[in-house]
Amino acid sequence: MTTQDLDTEDVADIYDELLATYKVEWAYRGHRSLHLAYYDDDHDEPGEASMNTMRVLSEAADVDSSDRVLNIGCGAGEDSIWNARAHGATVIGVNISETQLELARENARDHGVGDRTEFRYDDFQTLETVPDGSVDLVWGLEALAHSPDRPQALSAARRVLDEGGRVAFADLFVRAGAAPADADREDIETIEDGLGLRLGSIDGFERALGDAGFENVAVRDLTDGIRPGLEDRKQFASIAHPVGRLLGAIGIASEAQLDGLEASARIHDLVEKGVLGYYLITADRGAPDGDSDDTVDHSPSDGTSAS
Ligand SMILES: C[S@@+](CC[C@H](N)C(=O)[O-])C[C@H]1O[C@@H](n2cnc3c(N)ncnc32)[C@H](O)[C@@H]1O
Repeated sequence: MTTQDLDTEDVADIYDELLATYKVEWAYRGHRSLHLAYYDDDHDEPGEASMNTMRVLSEAADVDSSDRVLNIGCGAGEDSIWNARAHGATVIGVNISETQLELARENARDHGVGDRTEFRYDDFQTLETVPDGSVDLVWGLEALAHSPDRPQALSAARRVLDEGGRVAFADLFVRAGAAPADADREDIETIEDGLGLRLGSIDGFERALGDAGFENVAVRDLTDGIRPGLEDRKQFASIAHPVGRLLGAIGIASEAQLDGLEASARIHDLVEKGVLGYYLITADRGAPDGDSDDTVDHSPSDGTSAS
């Protein structure tokens, strides 16, 4: 399969195929997150560090109890549960994997936030189930790297935001100005095929936010904080991959699991080479469409008073 013919069903299938691998990681971390861990002086253990990624993003997004949050690409519910528990927010999580949605519902009930969270099937490219202007924050933690058309996804995100709304994203991007060599491009393809991603550049994403009408775009480079976790993943892949090949040969490990391991190792290499970076991005919804700062004269054109 090439990235060109990868659609949302393929992405959902990849996640379903990788579930067994993720379950091993969840047992190790103590929770069901599907994102990279962010290490700092106070969070140097894998489980804490992956909680820390959610803490850092929610602080940047300034989440509070009055917020109606839409979590695009909500995984198994962990980041929705974080915002409901740590900040008292109300959260709708959308996903294109029914398997993950079921895990998310169960996870939220187990954490006592079933009443403040809802998980439902929707594609973040269109957000068909979400009414215009109905949320305060669109949150995407490692979701938009799956997007085949980021301008379309950003336009859907902006449509569902209420006045004064905002977005907060964290994801892997190609660094601004990085010119991947042919070998790097092959690695990018391995990553995209293995994990169902379409990696874009951070500068292209900033432009797309501006083009979609977002204002006050702020970008923070968090790459240094994810390096220790990527190092762990690479080591795990270097041990698990040969074993996996053997298990694959006797039908115990799937091709998708082996590709996923390979992709993790390549992410590590491209981050170390300075081709990929991990970024936190926030932006405000900006003025409603059609509004501008210019004063508009609404008086009738013939000069008579409207009253
Ligand atoms: C890397 S995981 C992150 C999950 C979660 N945010 C977390 O941090 O644990 C990316 C998620 O995006 C979902 N996803 C991918 N493409 C999607 C789409 N078009 N619409 C909705 N969800 C999508 C995947 O199924 C997966 O749950």
